[in-house]
Amino acid sequence: MSRGRFISFEGIDGAGKSTQHKWLVEHLKSQGRQVVATREPGGTPLGEKLRALLLAEPMHLETEALLMFAARREHLAAVIEPALARGDWVVCDRFVDASFAYQGGGRGLDWGKLKTLADWVLGSLRPDLTFIFDVPVAVAQKRLHAATDKPDRFEQEHAEFFERVRGAYLRIAHAEARRVRLIDATKHPDEINKELEKIIATI
Ligand code: TYD
Repeated sequence: MSRGRFISFEGIDGAGKSTQHKWLVEHLKSQGRQVVATREPGGTPLGEKLRALLLAEPMHLETEALLMFAARREHLAAVIEPALARGDWVVCDRFVDASFAYQGGGRGLDWGKLKTLADWVLGSLRPDLTFIFDVPVAVAQKRLHAATDKPDRFEQEHAEFFERVRGAYLRIAHAEARRVRLIDATKHPDEINKELEKIIATI
């Protein structure tokens, strides 16, 4: 049995990553692969309940980080680890980098605390490949306003918050260039599809 792969999608709200996530899932299925399409926060019944709280309820920034990692722990145990053990491909809309970018970069939570949580919850497991969809904040906000009439707790954040989230994503892309591919998300979706297709063929 061939080994499965773990691919995550990241980027600020409005970068267009969810559209590309859907496209890649269909593309991999059309190649005959067994694919588990999932997302964070969420991906399990308990995780989806935590997601509803996280997107709606005001809370302390450490509570927010802990709930993100609690949902992740459940997701790993119930969905991701069994899928990888079966040899499936797991394609996840956001994963641990979002905690560093949003709770660390955006909210200012200590990076060391996040590392402790990541080491605890993930051990040595990391995605084989992570796409970070990068776009200027003004472009993302325009897309977001056009697509959503009821923004959630994160989508309601101001431009400076997203500048910090974007900055953290760029630092991660720079520091982990072997795992992370930075995608210029201002390009036409068809062009991005082609880029993803090429990269996927190399892993
Ligand atoms: P998102 O994928 O943007 O959902 P949708 O496209 O349906 O709006 O994810 C929801 C929000 O959760 C997003 O604003 C980022 C935030 N988030 C964190 O702050 N930390 C995390 O660890 C994760 C996984 C998500």
